[in-house]
Amino acid sequence: MTRTIYVNGQYQPYAEACVHAEDRGFQFGDAVYEVCEVRRGRLVDETRHMQRLARSLSELGIPQPMSKGAWSRVMRETIRRNRVGDGLVYLQVSRGARPRDFLFPPHDVKPTVVCLARRVSPARLEAAAAEGIAVKTMPDTRWARCDIKTVMLLPASLAKEAARGEGAKEAWFVDDTGHVTEGASSNAWIVDREGRLITRQIDNAILRGITRTTLIDLLRREGVELVERVFSVEEAQAAREAFITSATNFVMPVVRIDGKPIGNGAPGLLSLKLRAEFHTAAEHAER
Ligand code: PDD
Repeated sequence: MTRTIYVNGQYQPYAEACVHAEDRGFQFGDAVYEVCEVRRGRLVDETRHMQRLARSLSELGIPQPMSKGAWSRVMRETIRRNRVGDGLVYLQVSRGARPRDFLFPPHDVKPTVVCLARRVSPARLEAAAAEGIAVKTMPDTRWARCDIKTVMLLPASLAKEAARGEGAKEAWFVDDTGHVTEGASSNAWIVDREGRLITRQIDNAILRGITRTTLIDLLRREGVELVERVFSVEEAQAAREAFITSATNFVMPVVRIDGKPIGNGAPGLLSLKLRAEFHTAAEHAER
């Protein structure tokens, strides 16, 4: 249960935590966010998440609302107040509140900052990984700057809802050329018949996942071959294994794509091995 949420410098009780009705995040989706895993009370890959947040802010010209040290204190205090051992921290920064105007507000308008932390059951996640998840593909109707982690998540929300309607836990977006871009809230991977890992190259069509980056570190260490290139839905359906990566799922095996079983329909061995080893490659912050 979330007890306290940090909003603009104050830790507020959950029921009272609020931002202004004319916040630009609310009216224009003019906000960016981060989701960082908390594992045994420690932040996972904090450095990379904070670097990506800084990049998202800078790409949109939103001023950095606080120093690195202040962010770190706010996240730790939010984790502590909510007694989160295993779970996640969510950060959101909008361009601030101001009478509605498409044009940016003057420079003295302060960004709106929200930080919340909540528990996630590791046992439930492990149970999901042991079974693997189904994904449903659908056209990528998002904008051309998916490399920025903005809160404009309506296409992702619609896609996940449609996926749920068909018993799938994630949606995979497909571009105009029939290639998978990424999941609605994850990066997409396959393992080909030769055991090579394939994931889409980094460009504006996808988010550079922190889990993706850390997993690539692990692959280098283990000498697993990785090819960063596009792949089609048909290629994914014919793959030996498939999985997704995100801060909330780490490495999650995919066992069905649009109803078609992947491999023998059970989580792949390489996917499970990478899941088991993932955290050895990640940074675990001091408390
Ligand atoms: N989503 N691609 C998209 C579109 C995402 O929203 C996410 C993460 C990822 C994976 O990024 P990372 O490995 O840094 O979590 C890729 C978060 C978890 C969310 O929106 O809840």
